[in-house]
Amino acid sequence: MEVSTKALVPEKQKTACLVVGVFADKDPGPQANRLNDATDGQLGRILARGDLEARAGASLLLSGLNGVAAERVLLVSMGKGEEFNDKAYRNALSATGRFLASLKADEAVVALADIAVPNRDLAWHTRTAAQLIADAAYKYDVPRAKKEEETRGVARVVLGFALKPTADATRGAAQGLALANGMSLTRTLGNLPANVCTPTYLGETAKKLGKAHKSVKVEVFDKAGIEKIGMGSFLSVAQGSVQPPRFIVLKYNGGKAKTKPVVLVGKGVTFDTGGISLKPGEGMDEMKYDMCGAASVLGTFQAVAELDLPINLVGLIPATENMPSGIATKPGDVVTSLSGQTIEILNTDAEGRLILCDALTYAERFDPACVVDIATLTGACIIALGHHTSGLLANDDELARELQDTGVSAGDRAWQLPLFDEYQEQLKSNFADMANIGGRPAGTITAACFLARYTKKYKWAHLDVAGTAWKSGAEKGATGRPVPLLFNFILQRATH
Ligand code: BES
Ligand code: MN
Ligand code: ZN
Repeated sequence: MEVSTKALVPEKQKTACLVVGVFADKDPGPQANRLNDATDGQLGRILARGDLEARAGASLLLSGLNGVAAERVLLVSMGKGEEFNDKAYRNALSATGRFLASLKADEAVVALADIAVPNRDLAWHTRTAAQLIADAAYKYDVPRAKKEEETRGVARVVLGFALKPTADATRGAAQGLALANGMSLTRTLGNLPANVCTPTYLGETAKKLGKAHKSVKVEVFDKAGIEKIGMGSFLSVAQGSVQPPRFIVLKYNGGKAKTKPVVLVGKGVTFDTGGISLKPGEGMDEMKYDMCGAASVLGTFQAVAELDLPINLVGLIPATENMPSGIATKPGDVVTSLSGQTIEILNTDAEGRLILCDALTYAERFDPACVVDIATLTGACIIALGHHTSGLLANDDELARELQDTGVSAGDRAWQLPLFDEYQEQLKSNFADMANIGGRPAGTITAACFLARYTKKYKWAHLDVAGTAWKSGAEKGATGRPVPLLFNFILQRATH
């Protein structure tokens, strides 16, 4: 998709579809008023009938309006003016995106980014608009015997403004589009079945990113390479699987040579059966999504590279399956991690932390500004926060606050849970430095406590995206979260 910005006169704009915002008030706002004048009051009469619902994101399609050059006009409700906020704006843009994704036309003009949300700058408006419109057009290419013949959805969107858009506005649109493109990669990797999206496939995808962007250097370690590094904990998860593991290292150097990098670490379990501590069968297909943390790192790298952002970034992805087999790790086995700390594996289904801990130790060598890991780590996180909010835990409150605030402006929220020392006691083992599980109470916190034992040398935050990385049920599919949070976090660090 292409997204551009320009100044325009709404009633005179020739386009297959003009999208304008309407407030659910006596005064519907400047755009609706202009069209009302141009149509000799026709628009006002339509609105007076109440055909457009009040809630933000409701819409009404009008065709062939007299006095208007556009073939169609989509009226989108912005809700009540005094309640207008981030959420109403997002609802309006998402609804617009869904509509345009099924429209039989190849371009449209959207005037919604010109409507000011309190406390948000112009770049936020265009970034959010471009992201939501482009993301709504995402489609997973389902392999079917017969290809779908009809193609729908616009390929070009113009964000229209009353006045000439500033450079910031135009840059924001490019950022939103790059973000949506990154999310698209993340979503597709998540949605691909585990017989396609293997650890090898993730490694190949990273290499492709390196080929597409000179600024991205990629190194992929195979099993022998991982052994050489000394990642005994990671390898104990991989040993039950026929699919060989990969350890993927991405480096993006857009910043000054001496600036410390932000390091992103993504859980890349391409299928999690639970191993010998086998999961129940129901819904197990969704464990193909257990590599969504890894996919979010790749998607973020793609977006950052596409924009040549001035920042240094490292991505680390331990990728493996978690399978039961005759040579799989057994409950009670003791392994030695890269850090030297030993682990008694009491449950082979708590495998995410076993692969992450070695990647987190590996992160030390980059002398990071901070490390953020992203993982579909615990079912307990879904119990705590449901499917709306990602879990956030950190050994540095300033970093946690930065991520939490970014999540709000990105529309991709995370909420901090405590990492108090008391919880560490739940990881005591009689046979090693620690156990890999902490019992049922506070499962998300004890998982993070485990990781905290490997992140003492730098500022670190952990995002548990078990509840947010994908949707179940009729809308089953990857969401692309938390790429909006990660991307905006990096954007802020790159430009401030
Ligand atoms: N990948 C799962 C976590 C998960 C479960 C994410 C369901 C999304 C939906 C993880 O590897 C896991 O199995 N965690 C266990 C940990 C337990 C054994 C301490 C869990 O959450 O049950
Ligand atoms: Mn598991
Ligand atoms: Zn898992």
